[in-house]
Amino acid sequence: MEAKADVSADFDFGVRAKARCDALGVSPYSEVEGQLTRRFLTPAHEAALEMLTRWMTDAGMSVRRDAAANLIGRYEGALPGAKALIIGSHIDSVRNGGRYDGPLGIMLGIDVVEALHRAGRRPPFAVEVVAFGDEEGSRFPASMSCSRAMAGALDPAALEMKDADGVSVAEALTAFGGDPANIALAARKPEEVLAFLEAHIEQGPVLEAEGLALGVVTAIAAQKRLMVKIIGAAGHAGTTPMGLRKDPGPAAAECVLALERICRAGTDGLVGTVGRMTALPGAFNVIPGAIEFSMDIRAETSATRDAAVDAICAEIHAIAGARGLKAEIHLMQALAESPCDPSLMGLLEEALADLSQPPRRLPSGAGHDAMVMADLCPVAMLFVRCEGGISHNPAEAVTEADCALAAKAMLHFIDKLERRERA
Ligand code: GLV
Ligand code: MN
Ligand code: MN
Repeated sequence: MEAKADVSADFDFGVRAKARCDALGVSPYSEVEGQLTRRFLTPAHEAALEMLTRWMTDAGMSVRRDAAANLIGRYEGALPGAKALIIGSHIDSVRNGGRYDGPLGIMLGIDVVEALHRAGRRPPFAVEVVAFGDEEGSRFPASMSCSRAMAGALDPAALEMKDADGVSVAEALTAFGGDPANIALAARKPEEVLAFLEAHIEQGPVLEAEGLALGVVTAIAAQKRLMVKIIGAAGHAGTTPMGLRKDPGPAAAECVLALERICRAGTDGLVGTVGRMTALPGAFNVIPGAIEFSMDIRAETSATRDAAVDAICAEIHAIAGARGLKAEIHLMQALAESPCDPSLMGLLEEALADLSQPPRRLPSGAGHDAMVMADLCPVAMLFVRCEGGISHNPAEAVTEADCALAAKAMLHFIDKLERRERA
């Protein structure tokens, strides 16, 4: 059965969502010409929110920003003030990222609301579309501060984190028009929210390998972010004999190999990444005084993740100690694994069945705002196939046909949620 709000021929359903992601893939929606880098609370973020405000308004929503710089469009249900189905994802990107990781879920949400609006349909619940600003954590050391604020789960200490230029989240948020002193106002009450739905590219190769356009996410992996500093002694690169150095560089290299070995030997989807490494002070002719590097460790369960983190940290201390160096390790963020809601997963599967799509269930190794929103309300996630499973890379690609199918699946999901709520 087709969704009640199925679209007319003049509405490029889903296709326009993809085109809008492409439109925001360039300056001024990117901080850097020739690539997409859109970090939290930058002018590129502001430019994207201004464009999204227009699109949300055109789709029939009233639009506001909250204290945490979340952009929220609201389409009232049959009774104004009803609980909301929140559809959302993030508008920020990694450095030199792809165009669909995050924005596609927002644009699909706008399309879905526009379809309801055009059909004159008012479900018994409101539908809100949210653009979170900080899923990637590509500016400040931790991530998901916007969805945490909305879920009422933001530790105020997160506002003191600083970016590479020494600007704190609180300072940047104030300059952006947010309100760090009243960040608690961004928290939604559980009784205001019916559910959260996030559509997102899969960022992996499973759907493509199986010839499937869409998948239903079962759970999102647990993750930890840590910063490590191996401290030695800076010295002259030409005059200090090899045996008399306190060089943290080779120790850091051993640490990366230890992380790789431990994670390769792991189970439960254990993965570990050193994505950033900095030698200090950083010069050709200076033995570094310290090396700093990030660690991102994930697994299907917190227990597996934590066992790996403990083993890696023990090795790092041992490696540094054996070389007469010191290691400091700071936990920047811990997110527990987050299961999706079984009843909403069932509705998504029914929506896929309406579109003759097999009900493929799969876990997410990537982090998503949905894992934080799960603190607030039941969550569901719809994965959309992406080319070659490539993501966090400008080569990220999706097809128009898959985007159209995803939008239809979301409308069918709303139909089914409506039926459930009326029952
Ligand atoms: C976000 O893309 C993450 O998984 O870190
Ligand atoms: Mn991402
Ligand atoms: Mn994402």
